Amino acid sequence: MSKETFYITTPIYYPSDKLHIGHAYTTVAADAIARFKKLTGYDVYFLTGSDEHGQKIERTAKAKGQTPKEYVDKIVAGFKHLWGKLDVEYNDFIRTTEDRHKKVVEMFFEQLYKQGDIYKSSYKGWYCTPCETFFTEYQLAEGKCPDCGREVELLEEESYFFKMSKYADQWLKFIEENPDFIQPETRRNEMISFVKQGLEDLCVSRTTFDWGIKVPFDPNHVVYVWVDALTNYISALGYGSENDDLYQKYWPADVHLVGKDIMRFHTIIWPIMLMALNLPLPKKVMGHGWLLLEGGKMSKSKGNVVDPLKLIDKYGADAVRYYLLRELPFGSDGYYSEEALAKRINNDLANDYGNLLSRTSSMLVKYQQGELRKPQPEGKLDEELINLAVETPKVVEENMNNLQISAALEAISKLVGRANKYLEETAPWSLAKDETKTARLNTVLYNVIEVMRFATIMLSPFMPNIPEKVWAQIGIEDKKELQTWDSLRWGKLPEGTVVKKGKVLFPRIDLSTI
Ligand code: MSP
Repeated sequence: MSKETFYITTPIYYPSDKLHIGHAYTTVAADAIARFKKLTGYDVYFLTGSDEHGQKIERTAKAKGQTPKEYVDKIVAGFKHLWGKLDVEYNDFIRTTEDRHKKVVEMFFEQLYKQGDIYKSSYKGWYCTPCETFFTEYQLAEGKCPDCGREVELLEEESYFFKMSKYADQWLKFIEENPDFIQPETRRNEMISFVKQGLEDLCVSRTTFDWGIKVPFDPNHVVYVWVDALTNYISALGYGSENDDLYQKYWPADVHLVGKDIMRFHTIIWPIMLMALNLPLPKKVMGHGWLLLEGGKMSKSKGNVVDPLKLIDKYGADAVRYYLLRELPFGSDGYYSEEALAKRINNDLANDYGNLLSRTSSMLVKYQQGELRKPQPEGKLDEELINLAVETPKVVEENMNNLQISAALEAISKLVGRANKYLEETAPWSLAKDETKTARLNTVLYNVIEVMRFATIMLSPFMPNIPEKVWAQIGIEDKKELQTWDSLRWGKLPEGTVVKKGKVLFPRIDLSTI
């Protein structure tokens, strides 16, 4: 039987500058979801990329004495380097400067024009260059950009317009019939009230700069960068080309994962473009919260941008990934600090998860040459631990399917915490002193190592380098069948398995060094 497909995307990032920890958050979240779906049996396609056109890039490149293409090539190489360092396993990386993408944007624009959904008129509005967005007078916040707070410019130009207003009712009907389309619910309500206030037609071309995809039938105009960018989710799948197998197989997307600031584009403009083109709509758009600093937003002008590469060098990709995904309840904002990161590593990973393995493996080596023997569970303590272990994969799966990543991680932490407590309660170090308690000692240590196997399988999408180390230590590196999601059934770890002592998984961080 062929597997069910799952198509997930990240936003395509602007190569106007290097990426910071906030951008890494979106992509790491998408990667963890993609890996989780693979682990649980889906045929996954994971897309990311770069959004390379627009006035801001043109200006930045010029200021550096480079062509826009020279400039973005370097920055995009940096994106790919960062994703490699963070163990992000995408299937494809789309660049909006690629021909395969341009062709689809041109095709869409032409089709919408031919069917009368794009028309020419003149536009006057307030434009924020960094955000690549026009605002009406009424939308401005004290005369500044309502999104980033920077200066806006009054522009008047001959432009093409997309008849968004024509589709407002169809959009509202769609949202009503698909209550899960916009996540979380608060964002859904915001979008509905935005559309109910009255949807204006969208200005979809510019003549004030060059760096973009030309309108095929009027090359003085370049296509509005958001219409260009949103199309990536389909152009990357080969839509409209000779080989559109990927499009046939994976579209519509299961989830577009985006930050809350770009929800309007993804939940209103993109679905309406697709409606007008008579193409299927994505199944879900999830808007996550922002990673903030005590002083507010991260920005280059404030000089407070956190470089993920430095953190990876210092703490390792697994720990950085874990922190990002555990710290923010998915959908809400949260504060970043290096201290919080170090505390997370110390508490969850060093003291709880890593220590569970090191103390249990030491005892196993000391008391029974590392060998696991047949367990004989007895009584309430064993039952409680085993029940929790068996329940946790279900809780994790449910949370992941609802894109509640931090809640999924919390459930795994709870199991690991329970196993540590179980060690305190059963005190194997005392059992070892009494020869009549050998069977009990073996059962306790077996149970904890089996929990370790459970926790490690469940953690693998979040910290992809850890499992290999744990499997080697608990002696099942060659037993792939014990490392799968399906193997999460209690007691599969065979007797005779030999556990070894290993290197500390997560060394404790001295907080005074931060
Ligand atoms: N190019 C557009 C997206 C086009 S998608 C068709 C864009 N690019 S971006 O580089 O500015 O931002 C990309 C993503 O990074 C957005 O989802 C945004 O929310 C996210 N983040 C940027 N800073 C962030 C934080 N500080 N915290 C969390 N996410 C942040 O928008």
